[in-house]
Amino acid sequence: MTVGIDDISIYIPRLFVDARDFAVARGMDPDKLQRGLGISKMAMVDTNQDPACMAANACLRIMQKSHLSPKDIGRLYVATESSLDESKAMNSYVIGMLEQIYGDDSFEHCGGIECKFACVSGSYALYDNSNWIRAGESGGKSAIVVVSDIAKYDLGSSGEYTQGAGAVAMLVNDNPRLLEFDPKVTSTSIKNEYDFYRPFGKETPIVHGQYSNLLYLLQVKKALMLYKEKALSTGLIKLKAGETILDYIDFLSMHLPYSNMGKKALAYLLRHEWRKLPRWKKIIEKIGMEEPIPKDPRGTIESVLADSEFMTKDHEFTKKFSKTEEFQEVYDTKLASSLIASQMIGNLYTASLYLGFRSCLEFEFQKGTDLAGKRFGFGSYGSGSSAMVFSGAIKPTYKEIVKDMNLESEIGNRVKLSLEEYEEIHENKRGPKENFLDSKEEFVLIDVENIAESKGERRYVFTG
Ligand code: CAA
Repeated sequence: MTVGIDDISIYIPRLFVDARDFAVARGMDPDKLQRGLGISKMAMVDTNQDPACMAANACLRIMQKSHLSPKDIGRLYVATESSLDESKAMNSYVIGMLEQIYGDDSFEHCGGIECKFACVSGSYALYDNSNWIRAGESGGKSAIVVVSDIAKYDLGSSGEYTQGAGAVAMLVNDNPRLLEFDPKVTSTSIKNEYDFYRPFGKETPIVHGQYSNLLYLLQVKKALMLYKEKALSTGLIKLKAGETILDYIDFLSMHLPYSNMGKKALAYLLRHEWRKLPRWKKIIEKIGMEEPIPKDPRGTIESVLADSEFMTKDHEFTKKFSKTEEFQEVYDTKLASSLIASQMIGNLYTASLYLGFRSCLEFEFQKGTDLAGKRFGFGSYGSGSSAMVFSGAIKPTYKEIVKDMNLESEIGNRVKLSLEEYEEIHENKRGPKENFLDSKEEFVLIDVENIAESKGERRYVFTG
């Protein structure tokens, strides 16, 4: 049975912090953010926005765009790591908001939960909902999977310049116009880790930045190895001598905590795949140095990071490798378009991977690339930690969806925050009603109850 993504919509808040202003205010070289990490703007929520209303706005857009009514939807899942409640699931808030438009109880048949596993949970939600359809349980209905997050780090921390906010809604069904998932190849890896986590009651995460970078690469590589086994054993991909599985993936979408992480991941995965192939010899000759090996090749992530001689040499090797025409060709043709939206918007945690997918569709379409039948590989990573690798093929009908994509007009008129305004929002110095922007035709938060018997109840309205 065919199952996949039929349609996709986004909601990105219009407020943003400019990376150059930010760098200057923090006494940093702006090039570190723009060239080093690939960040030019970070989307910020207004005081009357939260992950639930962003999710509802993305859902409403997909419902309206695809002319859906609530009876067409059998499940609504929200994946987030910006949870609002320890018990009440975010999809219930979203349904409450959607029912303001579609009528009381219009979604009462629609099951779903909130999913959590840092940034990878949206991928698990997509997989589980696809399997709900494959199992014949959907009764002809579609599922909506929404990924919505506010990436927020402590002021002055090294994570602060990798913030962002937004939501992506995806319609999943058995006759998808956009992308059909490849069956029986989805692969995962998992390990109990503390690279990035947010204990109860804490608004910002505890982050071990360089550790999290390396762990991301290792986990995605492990999931890719399993994917490879499955793709070969199911016959999805047949390798000839000297080939790698990545030769058969036309486009790559990676989890993007910042846009250059995609490039880092591509270099890491290509090195891993190519070093056993005849083509590597020529590349090593071009680079002019052998691939460095850590002092303790079987060591821990900590021991590798502490091996400063190896880290310096490995960094040098990666930089040289990334400049080879072999790498550049893969980068330009398979990855670069997926990184554009992240540069403009920042980190969306669960939604980053899917914003990257959307970015690739929009910008490849603009270039005139024929995407029909092309295979997309997805590298999803969530701290804590788990990775998921899966793939799908673009359907011949994809233009129906992609032709109308326009990131700038879908975000709307963006408004730059001063550093003072940004810090006021960040430190929660303004209440929901002290918003910066007027909203039109979208859900906003108007109140959060503070009295004991209804503490935490949130009220939303749809602005006219
Ligand atoms: N001009 C140009 N480039 C510069 C520069 C300058 N003046 N100064 C530094 N750079 C480059 C560096 O060379 C480096 O690039 P390469 O790695 O390609 O060489 C890049 O800028 C970043 O420099 P640092 O590594 O020194 O940056 P940092 O110490 O500030 O840390 C970070 C970066 C670890 C990502 C940090 O921002 C962080 O902790 N972020 C939050 C955690 C995170 O995003 N982890 C990613 C993996 S975990 C995950 O993916 C889950 C998730 O969503 C959080």
